[in-house]
Amino acid sequence: MAQQIVLTGIKPTGMPHLGNWVGAIKPTVELSQQPDRQGFFFIADYHALTGLRDAKALRHYSYSLAAAWIALGLDPHQSILYRQSDIPEVFELSWVLACFSPKGLMNRAHAYKAQVQKNQETGEEDVDAGVNMGLYTYPILMAADILIMNSKWVPVGSDQQQHVEIARDLAQYFNRQYQREVFTLPDALIDQSTAVLPGIDGRKMSKSYNNHIPIFETADRIRKLIMRIETDSSRPGEPKNPDTSTIFQLYRLLATPEETAAMARQYENGIAWKDAKEALYARFEESFRAANQRYRELMADTSELDRIFADGKDKARQVTQKTIDRVRRTVGVS
Ligand code: TRP
Repeated sequence: MAQQIVLTGIKPTGMPHLGNWVGAIKPTVELSQQPDRQGFFFIADYHALTGLRDAKALRHYSYSLAAAWIALGLDPHQSILYRQSDIPEVFELSWVLACFSPKGLMNRAHAYKAQVQKNQETGEEDVDAGVNMGLYTYPILMAADILIMNSKWVPVGSDQQQHVEIARDLAQYFNRQYQREVFTLPDALIDQSTAVLPGIDGRKMSKSYNNHIPIFETADRIRKLIMRIETDSSRPGEPKNPDTSTIFQLYRLLATPEETAAMARQYENGIAWKDAKEALYARFEESFRAANQRYRELMADTSELDRIFADGKDKARQVTQKTIDRVRRTVGVS
């Protein structure tokens, strides 16, 4: 049987943090190691342009995301790693899909709806204020990303599930119109177990709450962030409940089951919050030490990343050119 295609993209809009690692990077790296799957991973740089208008930052985040992916275990020989902007066929397909996309479907897409809701809440007269057409048609470009590679599985966070469903709908409209299986119907793959990771204030870890712990930061910065994790006011010696502790939730993520069980006992025995934080910091430092080193190497001289992008582009286009040929023949253009 042919290998099933697993594909996902990440927008390069900031430095990768622990929440990205658990929610997106780790599960995709693990999936890509399965022998019956072929992984395609890309930097969704043109998606980032819907909101990020700083060329230097966009370039930097694109490299740093690729470096993070590789440092955290993605093997660019085994999987195909590329930049969305390197694949012209994606944008051609995006137009074709736009012609099959009911406008009402875009009205219901969540990134757009969120902005409309924000406008309503802030009493803005124009509900579409701050909405550019890139944001409005975001799901169409995303559908093109997915369908151009014949993707079967699309690992994403639960907030992106709707977008994958839109891709599936568009593929179905198209296939039905021409009575052929031009596109593979994709499915979202959502890892429920890692859905909510707390940030340093106890709310869901997210860049938008600014409560995240970046992975590739100086030891000093990370230590400071960990020391700022909010706790209750129980004192050293008082038993503590690990299940309600952010420190413990983060520790568990990085530790072995034995270490986790030992730490739970220390909570019962009244470990001081300060010591629990030190233990988390030590665990974090050890877990990401090798990755940090690799990340720094890749970022110090980006020529290796440039080669990886060039190679990824060649391999990806072998697939995308076939898809776009099929689409062109199907719709009846040159
Ligand atoms: N929209 C995704 C996000 O914000 C990124 C993305 C773009 C993507 N294209 C994709 C994810 C295709 C999966 C498949 O996280």
